[in-house]
Amino acid sequence: MLKMNNRILRDSFDRKLTDLRISLTDQCNFRCSYCMPKEIFGKDYQFLLKKELLSFEEIKLLSDAFINLGVEKLRLTGGEPLLRKNLPELIYELKALKTLKGENVEVTLTTNGFLLQQFTSSLKKSGLDRVTVSLDALDENIFQQMIGRKHSPKIVLSGIDAAIKEGLSVKVNMVVKKGVNHNQIIPMADYFKKRSIQLRFIEFMDVGNSNQWNSKHVLPSLEIIKLLHKKFGVTKKVRKTASEVAEVWSYSEGGTFGTISSVSKPFCKNCSRVRLSSDGLLYTCLFSSTGYNLKKFIRDAKFAQSDKESVKTKRLLVENFVQQIWARRSDRYSEQRLTGNSITSGQKIEMSYIGG
Ligand code: GTP
Ligand code: 5AD
Ligand code: SF4
Ligand code: SF4
Repeated sequence: MLKMNNRILRDSFDRKLTDLRISLTDQCNFRCSYCMPKEIFGKDYQFLLKKELLSFEEIKLLSDAFINLGVEKLRLTGGEPLLRKNLPELIYELKALKTLKGENVEVTLTTNGFLLQQFTSSLKKSGLDRVTVSLDALDENIFQQMIGRKHSPKIVLSGIDAAIKEGLSVKVNMVVKKGVNHNQIIPMADYFKKRSIQLRFIEFMDVGNSNQWNSKHVLPSLEIIKLLHKKFGVTKKVRKTASEVAEVWSYSEGGTFGTISSVSKPFCKNCSRVRLSSDGLLYTCLFSSTGYNLKKFIRDAKFAQSDKESVKTKRLLVENFVQQIWARRSDRYSEQRLTGNSITSGQKIEMSYIGG
């Protein structure tokens, strides 16, 4: 059954809102140099307190509000979302929500894969649609250099195998840092091509304030494509939807890979994504400095009861607020960076806080 809603949101550049990315925790068991370098995210780092995190009930309420405004896809991220206790229960609850078209909402997960093997069965049962695993190298030394921990990449590879065996659809994300892991491009492409798993190469981004970003560590996607073309032969595929972040390519022998070129070829023009931090703040761009407090609408003492009527009231308050925010949204940070017109003032939020 179609839900009645005539509030199709458009921002100031006529972009729709279809994709909500929800960070479930700002904690992570890795210390990737491009995200949570251990020099900064050491034992003195102030992570959020447990009581500050949104509860599953609150996440469900907020998701419902966003779905009522046109969102069709929920991506659960972190930090590392598998660190959040009883995650499959949340996924199960979210999968019960229906989009405005009357379809089941799509629920996907981004993980570093370290705990994936033990969760694959419960994730599959929860109804999770897809999982994206981050993996930056097959070589153990380079992997450890990238993730800042002395783990073996085999743990992540076993997690990926287990997910595939369980019938989950898997993609792999590789952040490429020139001079650190770029020699892993061919081995990684070869490994995942043979297994028919889509690998996506991501340009190292200047997100947050901690990762000591420098353009000399960015390997533009075009160079990666040239490299893979020389080795395997590649052709570009047509994008399925304009708002997809990745460009997808086919290998001549079959199989696909993706490139995510946020630095060299920004995709703000069709950005339909909004982000919810684990403590309930809404960010309309990955490079924002400030968020909008949604938690205040749902945790305020005067709305403490969770009976049906007050849940509905809270949801409507959130919907009205988000509608206003989206209507005046004008973010296009990556495009402005490219043209040298970056306007972000103040500290940018960290990727570990807002989600990958
Ligand atoms: P699916 O197509 O559903 O698999 O997901 P996706 O394309 O949204 O990909 P995913 O969530 O795996 O995002 C891949 C990476 O793209 C992220 O980890 C970020 O590095 C980057 N990314 C995603 N969304 C944005 C965005 O809005 N802006 C920028 N600059 N980068 C983004
Ligand atoms: N540049 C590009 N991607 C990043 N991620 C985190 N930090 C960065 C960065 N600086 C992304 C990676 C990882 C996901 C969780 O976040 O894609 O897979
Ligand atoms: Fe953790 Fe992912 Fe950030 Fe790496 S990129 S530190 S795995 S949240
Ligand atoms: Fe969207 Fe901001 Fe990323 Fe551009 S930089 S694609 S506006 S999140």
